[in-house]
Amino acid sequence: STRRHFKWDVEYMFWSPDCLESVVMGINGQFPGPTIRAQAGDTIFVQLTNKLHTEGVVIHWHGIRQLGTPWADGTASISQCAINPGETFDYRFKVDKAGTYIYHGHLGMQRSAGLYGSLIVEVGVGEEEPFHYDDEFNLLLSDWWHQSVRDQEVGLSSKPFRWVGEPQTLLINGRGQFNCSLAAHFSNTSMNACTLRGDEQCAPQVLRVLPNRTYRLRVASITALASLNLAVGNHKMVVVEADGNYVQPFEVEDMDIYSGESYSVLLTTNQDQSKNYWISVGVRGRKPQTPQALAILNYSPTSQSKLPILPPPITPTWNAYDHSKSFSNKIFALMGSPKPLKNPDRRIILLNTQNYIDGYIKWAINNISLLLPSTPYLGSIKYSLKSAFDNKNPPENFANDYDVMKPPMNPNSTNGNGVYMLGLNSTVDVILQNANALAVNVSEIHPWHLHGHNFWVLGYGEGRFSAKKDEKKFNLRNPPLRNTAVIFPFGWTALRFVADNPGVWAFHCHIEPHLHMGMGVVFAQGVEHVNDIPNQALACGLTGKRFMKKTKQN
Ligand code: C2O
Ligand code: CU
Repeated sequence: STRRHFKWDVEYMFWSPDCLESVVMGINGQFPGPTIRAQAGDTIFVQLTNKLHTEGVVIHWHGIRQLGTPWADGTASISQCAINPGETFDYRFKVDKAGTYIYHGHLGMQRSAGLYGSLIVEVGVGEEEPFHYDDEFNLLLSDWWHQSVRDQEVGLSSKPFRWVGEPQTLLINGRGQFNCSLAAHFSNTSMNACTLRGDEQCAPQVLRVLPNRTYRLRVASITALASLNLAVGNHKMVVVEADGNYVQPFEVEDMDIYSGESYSVLLTTNQDQSKNYWISVGVRGRKPQTPQALAILNYSPTSQSKLPILPPPITPTWNAYDHSKSFSNKIFALMGSPKPLKNPDRRIILLNTQNYIDGYIKWAINNISLLLPSTPYLGSIKYSLKSAFDNKNPPENFANDYDVMKPPMNPNSTNGNGVYMLGLNSTVDVILQNANALAVNVSEIHPWHLHGHNFWVLGYGEGRFSAKKDEKKFNLRNPPLRNTAVIFPFGWTALRFVADNPGVWAFHCHIEPHLHMGMGVVFAQGVEHVNDIPNQALACGLTGKRFMKKTKQN
């Protein structure tokens, strides 16, 4: 195994992700940030310098479990203090599992600002993937707004509330087109055809392929809001990996992908080689006001500037939830994957609601909206600094008479920063229960992401979860392992995981404005076993004061 060393500067820079100049948060002058490629077993060492001048920063390595290095998880207020302007923080962690991962900012709304990139872990030397491919491509999907993130953030925290709205553009590898369309001649809208040379920052990604080969497409979504669907004109795809876990291969014509998820799909170039084909990405689950993103599958030796002859694949209707559910229900673990224990030690039911606190709109879990403390939990729990946060365990369930199909009877909620303390190595079930939002007949999709672990997705259901009737239907035979799973409108999703990773871990909706409005909880386990937390991770809040006292005494 190798030690891979990177020196990164995070800074704002001018960039034109969708042909319109904006300010993005980039790394080493790149947007998206540099792709990390490693092999399973490698140690990644990133020396991250904050060159933002007026705000802190952290980077989370999404999907990496951080076994033994919970302080390197990159979650502000949870695993570390924000890195101050001008300061450098040393992330060091092992990538133990091959797969397709992402990294992104985890403070405020820095993901919406463009702080993200890909982390690809290949199998270790002498190991093999359980499928064959000739070559691979990486497709990192995101959404982009023209309003600055600062303005978006102020809107979300204002009374009256100002929602960020739908993104202006979808990006594939940081590339999209806002006021022109590559496929203009197929549509009857007044959209102008793009006139791009190909070397612009907003020029579409071209995947140059040879006929009769198999390609692995690594597809990950790091959207701030949008749920997406991806399709390739004339080509089917075989799904083989999800969130760094192998799945039972299955064929699809299009695939849904939610923020925080990653997939590998195999694509065979078995179509007419004198043509090129579209790769299209569109919005699901919210009424789309954003045009499809397009990339081009270019069969060599056909010229890459030759546009596909057929129109781009049409994204399924935004609210065709059955289509989305049928995709989610096709995902099973590859034979031989670890299986869950039969019975959990504990079951936590988490009700997702939209609420008010003093008239401000929030999201709450069992009626508590997450407000992170100023001292990172990892330090305050490790050193028993009891005043750093509310030590009461948050509620494990919600009222029996709560009607998930209706807006809340009492929409008022409270802020909280309590932590679910889990027994080390215990098996925990989490039932994510969706509900009606504040407006009548509205319930949204929320992709929930767990740090530090993979969980088994035991099942999805409609309406209110009932232990008596729904538990029997759990898939304990071949449930997929994931780190992100969606809850559908008015439905529930059942997850099971083993709390075997000492540390403090965020579990939250991966829609960034939702997290910002409190949609998350915190799990902690075995923190007494965490040693060697670097001082630079805890040099703020009460842990920072503690270090200052110590150095004075010396
Ligand atoms: Cu990718 Cu806590 O998030
Ligand atoms: Cu959400």
